[in-house]
Amino acid sequence: MNEKWLIEQFKWLHRHPELGMQERATTAFLKDRLREAGVALPETGLETGAIAVISGDPKGPVVGLRADIDALPIPEESGLEYASEHPGVMHACGHDFHAACMLGAALLLKQREKELPGTVKVVFQPAEEIDDGARKVIATGLLDDVQAFYAGHTYPWFEAGTLGIKPGPVMAAADRFAIRIRGKGAHAAHPDLSADVIPAMAAIIQSAQTVVSRNVNPFESAVVSITRAQAGNTWNIIPEEAELEGTARTLNPAVRDAVQARLEAIAVSTARAHGCEAEFEYERGSSAVINDAAACERAAALAREMGFNVAQQMGTLGAEDFSEYLAIAPGAFIRVGTGGGCDAHHPRFTVDPTALYPAARFFAALAERELKRLRDGQ
Ligand code: NI
Repeated sequence: MNEKWLIEQFKWLHRHPELGMQERATTAFLKDRLREAGVALPETGLETGAIAVISGDPKGPVVGLRADIDALPIPEESGLEYASEHPGVMHACGHDFHAACMLGAALLLKQREKELPGTVKVVFQPAEEIDDGARKVIATGLLDDVQAFYAGHTYPWFEAGTLGIKPGPVMAAADRFAIRIRGKGAHAAHPDLSADVIPAMAAIIQSAQTVVSRNVNPFESAVVSITRAQAGNTWNIIPEEAELEGTARTLNPAVRDAVQARLEAIAVSTARAHGCEAEFEYERGSSAVINDAAACERAAALAREMGFNVAQQMGTLGAEDFSEYLAIAPGAFIRVGTGGGCDAHHPRFTVDPTALYPAARFFAALAERELKRLRDGQ
């Protein structure tokens, strides 16, 4: 394995993007490359995705590396010669880069397998974009013994050669809420005979905007976005029902609880004040990704030794199911500068392939160093 080869694997993955839980060709491709190098692939029972195991000492500590492998339903407009060959599907979040990077790391670790004082488990996770994959992989039980987890993610705002390593929250808890308001329909000319859901809905939308401005400590971060408002279907009938849907994003678990409680109180009480009833539904997605401070310090020290620039990545209230792994063991979600300057999930998103091999070397070295630290009981 060398840099040129690894970039070729990345380009293949980029040409063949697959949506969450459909990553069959991607999985077969990765498994073939790993098998050719003699890397162990225990049976996971998963339809897609894989866990590669490199073990120098089965009695030693266990470190986890994670790549996500799924693509997005976006028609590619990058103009790359290795652009997607699957119409309407694109690796627009760099998961092809993640898969190739951790494939490279796995093969580099395999070359040093005998020297490893423990086991590295490299996770190729399906379905990150549909917020389902991490839970499925973890449910295999194969990661229960992992003592430290690391993942990398492309970052278009840093050039190749820069790693973003920031302690504390780096991605948000992303929750969905829905509010169903029931009133009493009537002829538009007889509002006195109705319990009108429209002013109730309008009042709920307005008041929901005060949750962040009035109930959240200004030093904390939170977002409440109402993204769908529906009621009625014509001009002369007061409708019977209205529906709102949206998302709440938070970094701090206490703020998450508070935002949920406030939204519910506003929905139920405001509807009642308008003579209506509200039903509140709140569905929790991934939790916030909170990087361990000591893990970040160690990763940053290694990155500098290896010649990377280390920057503080900017936080985002986007979501990532890597938080599920950090619930098992501490670690860090590291941003890999891949340039391009076009945001993820955009049809012209690209990554700089020269960032790939150095990132693979970094994660291999990080995993090995973490094994030594854990073996030495530090
Ligand atoms: Ni992503």
